[in-house]
Amino acid sequence: MSLFALKSIDRAIQESERENQLRRTLGPFSLIALGVGAVIGAGIFTLTGVAAANFAGPAIVISFVLAAIGCVFAGLCYSEFSTMIPIAGSAYTYAYATMGELIAWIIGWDLVLEYCVGAATVSIGWGQTLVALLQTFGINLPAKFIASPFQPIKLPDGTLVHGIINLPAVFIVVTVSVILILGIRESAGINTIIVFLKVSVVVTFIFIGWKYISPANHIPFIPPNTGHFGNFGWSGIVSGAGVIFFAYIGFDAVSTAAQEAKKPQRDMPVGIIGSLLVCTVLFILYSYVLTGIVNYKDLNVAAPLSLALVKIPIPWLSTAMNLAVLAGLTSVMLVMLLGQSRVFYSMSRDGLLPKLFSSVHPKFRTPWRCNLVLMVFVGLFAAFAPIAVVGEMTSIGTLFAFVIVCAGILIMRRTHPFIPRPFKTPLVPLVPVLGIIANLFLMSGLGWSNWARLIVWLAIGLVIYFSYSRKHSVVQRESPK
Ligand code: ALA
Repeated sequence: MSLFALKSIDRAIQESERENQLRRTLGPFSLIALGVGAVIGAGIFTLTGVAAANFAGPAIVISFVLAAIGCVFAGLCYSEFSTMIPIAGSAYTYAYATMGELIAWIIGWDLVLEYCVGAATVSIGWGQTLVALLQTFGINLPAKFIASPFQPIKLPDGTLVHGIINLPAVFIVVTVSVILILGIRESAGINTIIVFLKVSVVVTFIFIGWKYISPANHIPFIPPNTGHFGNFGWSGIVSGAGVIFFAYIGFDAVSTAAQEAKKPQRDMPVGIIGSLLVCTVLFILYSYVLTGIVNYKDLNVAAPLSLALVKIPIPWLSTAMNLAVLAGLTSVMLVMLLGQSRVFYSMSRDGLLPKLFSSVHPKFRTPWRCNLVLMVFVGLFAAFAPIAVVGEMTSIGTLFAFVIVCAGILIMRRTHPFIPRPFKTPLVPLVPVLGIIANLFLMSGLGWSNWARLIVWLAIGLVIYFSYSRKHSVVQRESPK
């Protein structure tokens, strides 16, 4: 048996065509909307404050630029893959066709960090936004039930309390899972409305907030390093970039919609790079305004947007924005959990995961068992994990996937030089090499505890691969001995 057995591109495409009941309806605008919808979420609305307060200060603006650079390189590589292998399954499928089964397994397993742990992070952000919204109506949920035991929260009187369980986060995980099981798939139309709401929140905040910037809050723009790596100064900017990289996650989800694109060859790169550019501009302006309205030292809070809105004397603004944020975060979770179930579905069809993950409900036509397992897994993180820990785990897992996708382009150009590539990553090998370096650089800012978590997670994956997946692999069984 070969660890590097390949699933041929032709076979992957044929299988997907046979199963493709999805209609090709998405044009370039819908694809950009899909990307923006998956990207704008907990990262920008929640993590920006914590990252500015703990790592970079107002220079979090520069962190957003750094993180965007790593994303653009990876985005160009994703674009080449998604036009060359325009089927669902994203990075897992690309790796299976190009680098072999073991790498495909590793990346499929790693994507759990991006999609599942990412969804848990967003659910915690959702819970915090709900709590902030209810407080504006004078409703205070019991502190014990709105936070993880590992994340103390501050009560209005200033005392710190530890929670027992984060019920609002669990609530939204269950709700989104039920929506996915019932198969009420987000239609492109609804997605476009939610994206419009989210973008309006950010743009409104930038326009109205600009007038309330106190220039003193931006001085010094790069607070001096405290003597510890990552604590302000330039190393703080790098650490900040590793953390807020989370905000950019999701543009790669456009590649999972390749089967639904009208003209994937032309529109995938437009969707991937277009959504990335829109979000980069919005994030840079948003973080500049946020750190200008509230001093970065005060931003170490769960809902930094609400804190800034307090300083803007327009009473209804905060409520309207929080409502739009809640809808927006829900749509991010839908994309992530749908993406995860698609990846697990592909892995299960290939025999690498038990059949349970690809069994389809007779009535709803959805992989409901898979959704239930994911609900429990994500729900546990939502209930008990602190947001910073899950956010950083998501970031390191996604960065690792980006590194492999960039490496995949280099390998493919050597091993399959003649396959039609409707979109070619420019300046190969420079762009993929820079992509690998930039994303490893961002990973380096994430600290050893995150590396340890990534290594443990991958080690668990390898145990499963060697004890189960390898023996059940369809490709291994069918390949000539
Ligand atoms: N980028 C997405 C978010 O920030 C994952 O919620």
